[in-house]
Amino acid sequence: MSANIAEMERRRAAARAGGGEKRIAAQHAKGKLTARERLDVLLDEGSFEELDTYVEHDCSDFGMEAQRIPGDGVVTGSGTIDGRLVFVFSQDFTVFGGSLSHRHAEKICKIMDMAMKVGAPVIGLNDSGGARIQEGVASLGGYAEVFQRNVLASGVIPQISVIMGPCAGGAVYSPAMTDFILMVKDSAYMFVTGPDVVKTVTNEVVTQEELGGAVTHTTRTSVADLALENDIEALLATRELVGFLPASNRAELPVLPTSDPWDREEPSLDTLIPANANQPYDMHELIAKVVDEGSFFEIQPTHGANIIAGFGRIEGRPVGFVANQPMVLAGVLDINASRKAARFVRFCDAFEIPIVTLVDVPGFLPGTAQEHNGIIKHGAKLLFAFAEATVPKITLITRKAYGGAYDVMSSKHLRGDLNYAWPTAEIAVMGAKGAVEIIFRGLSADEIAEKTREYEERFANPFVAASRGYIDEVIHPRSTRRRIASGLRRLRNKRLENPWKKHDNIPL
Ligand code: HXC
Repeated sequence: MSANIAEMERRRAAARAGGGEKRIAAQHAKGKLTARERLDVLLDEGSFEELDTYVEHDCSDFGMEAQRIPGDGVVTGSGTIDGRLVFVFSQDFTVFGGSLSHRHAEKICKIMDMAMKVGAPVIGLNDSGGARIQEGVASLGGYAEVFQRNVLASGVIPQISVIMGPCAGGAVYSPAMTDFILMVKDSAYMFVTGPDVVKTVTNEVVTQEELGGAVTHTTRTSVADLALENDIEALLATRELVGFLPASNRAELPVLPTSDPWDREEPSLDTLIPANANQPYDMHELIAKVVDEGSFFEIQPTHGANIIAGFGRIEGRPVGFVANQPMVLAGVLDINASRKAARFVRFCDAFEIPIVTLVDVPGFLPGTAQEHNGIIKHGAKLLFAFAEATVPKITLITRKAYGGAYDVMSSKHLRGDLNYAWPTAEIAVMGAKGAVEIIFRGLSADEIAEKTREYEERFANPFVAASRGYIDEVIHPRSTRRRIASGLRRLRNKRLENPWKKHDNIPL
């Protein structure tokens, strides 16, 4: 018996040794942790239970039969984050460059299938040279098996990808279909074709980092949601993100105890809006003063920063915030902001996370760049997302709500449940000066100024909208947290269903 146990231990040790000391040292020299070290940081201490430790590839081409390493380049299993179950895979770059063999893919599929059965998130730590070149089509088949599961799991269990090394070729499409992508600066990159192929085909010279590094993907492309300085920061951010998410679309939201009073007043909010309507203010300040203990987890902070999206808690319960940011492009809606917020709203709706929308928007961004790149379709995504969402929706207009953007930003007409406005709100088809120049064309400058004043008096307030019931209540800014908290309580048992359909046809 003891010999059997010794054999098991020997095999386990071989699996834990991965690609060996030299390759582990090379991994460390790049500032990267190993696959197992990463799981130690990600999961609660001692909670990891590994599966398929002894799985090996079945390839016998190109001398592969002589090279078998138990685990085959990916560590899989389950563990807990703050006591809550998650399923994980962590690719081991020290074993065949973390490349994906058919067996490696089967290991990933196995934990995805278990996660779907029990209703728990899947977190993938990606560090891989892509398809196992020696295996050919068997590896491609393996990828497609993972892709299919990503799609079926979408909207059922949260899926998070952390990119901690190479992720190239078709391999990028599995993370791309997950809910959130976190990337490590300098060591992670994602592209469909790398710099060498780019040079051959288009003659462009570009580094890996410029083409598909964490900064590129969190500023220009929005492929990734967060760029973190190193492995540890990325893993800790993942833990924090998981803390806001339910285990599945049918699970309760994770509630944390809080000592922050639900009805805390913030007198400073009474003066948040500057006297001059064109002066910006930081919408983060309002969010920080509304959420529990000022704590907010922002998604895509460096892309489309004219809109803010992220998670906070109120009375310990997760809430998704979508807020125009007057500090960036005056909070205008453009293509980037619309796409970013639309995807966030759909995530919240899929996982029953209530949405609080804070509105200060001068409209959609004009210009040929926007029109020719399809602002019509992209703006429609946000409109569509808010309109189809059935979760509790609370909207607060702090200042401007002009034109189509008024409608889009979770207005009453899109089934907003509680639509509040501060007394400083201005709800109109457009800004007063522009409006007057159109309806009173040909007047003198003095007359225009007079008519502008008249227009402002008529529309630069929330009471016209409130008199129609489009605004449910005009509230004191200092009482915002209390209003939102009590609104969320009242809406907790909201039930609303959209008409049956196979699926909708959101303008992609
Ligand atoms: C098998 C691989 C491998 C792969 C790396 N290795 N990629 N083995 N299949 N795809 C092995 C190397 O042979 C090496 O083994 C070890 O991993 C480390 O690789 P290095 O090249 O020494 O590391 P580094 O210099 O850091 O370069 C990493 C790399 C490079 C940039 C990822 O290895 C690389 O370019 N690999 C090939 C990438 C690629 O073209 N993949 C296929 C993409 S297409 P030893 O034994 O020396 O340690 C694809 C299609 C997916 O993925 C389609 C899905 C639909």
